[in-house]
Amino acid sequence: MSVRSAISTIMRAIRVTEFGGPQVLKLETNVPVPRPSEDQVLIKVHAAGINPVDTYIRSGTYAVKPTLPYTPGKDVAGVVEEMGSKVKHLKKGDRVYSMAVASGGYAEYCTSASTGTKLLHSNLTFEEGAGVGIPYYTAYRALVIIGGAKPGETVLIHGASGAVGLACVQIAKSRGLHVLGTAGSEAGIDLILRNGCDAAFSHREDGYAAKIMEATSNNGPQIIIEMLANVNLEKDLEMISKRGRIVVVGNRGSVEITPRLAMQKECIVTGMLLFNASQNEMDEIDAAVSAGMRDGWVKPPIGKTYTLDQAPAAHNDVINNQGTLGRLIIKVC
Ligand SMILES: NC(=O)c1ccc[n+]([C@@H]2O[C@H](COP(=O)([O-])OP(=O)(O)OC[C@H]3O[C@@H](n4cnc5c(N)ncnc54)[C@H](OP(=O)(O)O)[C@@H]3O)[C@@H](O)[C@H]2O)c1
Repeated sequence: MSVRSAISTIMRAIRVTEFGGPQVLKLETNVPVPRPSEDQVLIKVHAAGINPVDTYIRSGTYAVKPTLPYTPGKDVAGVVEEMGSKVKHLKKGDRVYSMAVASGGYAEYCTSASTGTKLLHSNLTFEEGAGVGIPYYTAYRALVIIGGAKPGETVLIHGASGAVGLACVQIAKSRGLHVLGTAGSEAGIDLILRNGCDAAFSHREDGYAAKIMEATSNNGPQIIIEMLANVNLEKDLEMISKRGRIVVVGNRGSVEITPRLAMQKECIVTGMLLFNASQNEMDEIDAAVSAGMRDGWVKPPIGKTYTLDQAPAAHNDVINNQGTLGRLIIKVC
């Protein structure tokens, strides 16, 4: 029996035939299993991560639109089922995670570029594996590569209770920074403290910025990793230390700021888009994340798990959640 004939030819997958609200995510049961090209692998998906960007793409408002119909999802963890002819570094049965999914991750099988498919350390479950890709690569690039974080510096993770925020907390702690974080709920504050924050603040409480200033002896954090710039950028400019760095990771609108604050602080405000990472940067992040999985500090907290048919609820939650507690996951099998 050939490898291919051992794999079923149809599968369950979410399909989107028109852009719109979460209701356009439809579970279909007779979707053809995709075939890997020569430099791809076929992954049997165990868990798929829900990223906010999946909702921007689904709604049709994102800069890059997929051709309809499509299956959403860039982040998965699972097992290699089949390799393209040029793939040498992976074999059938390998536990892997990928943020380079080609055919869509909300499905029982997906194809993935072999170069973006990485071994998942046995310290991590498949659910955790589906929380590694975009969150940790984003966090590392924002904090270390763009933010230039150094041991001993103080960083504020502004929005630390989500998937990227918690990854930032774990990475910053592992690199010897003093880590401050914010969350919007009691449970979120507890979670970020358990993941390595030295002090935690509620971004829903009046006057929390003054408390952050107090915690830094009124010097302000040297780095701020910002998850909601349209709400917080002015506050960040007020809080940042002299010659500090503000890295905008998340933004959902526009904001009025006082540029004079940037003059007074001589601070840098920079954006970060993971998509712009060079191959050298990706290689650096691969090495760091791989060491982190082995040493135990890459450990994605899972906030909530859904089944494939609950994809609309997962999309609704990832964008409207107040009181995030880590990564949202679709458990496929
Ligand atoms: N630039 C890139 O390349 C890149 C890559 C990945 C993600 N992103 C973006 O980064 C953001 C975070 O992604 P994610 O996957 O971590 O999303 P997520 O898991 O949904 O987390 C969202 C975070 O934002 C927090 N938040 C809500 N209101 C806030 C406020 N007023 N001030 C500060 N934080 C607030 C939430 O806290 P509570 O719920 O506890 O209030 C939570 O910690 C999203 O906008 C996403 O699109 C950008």
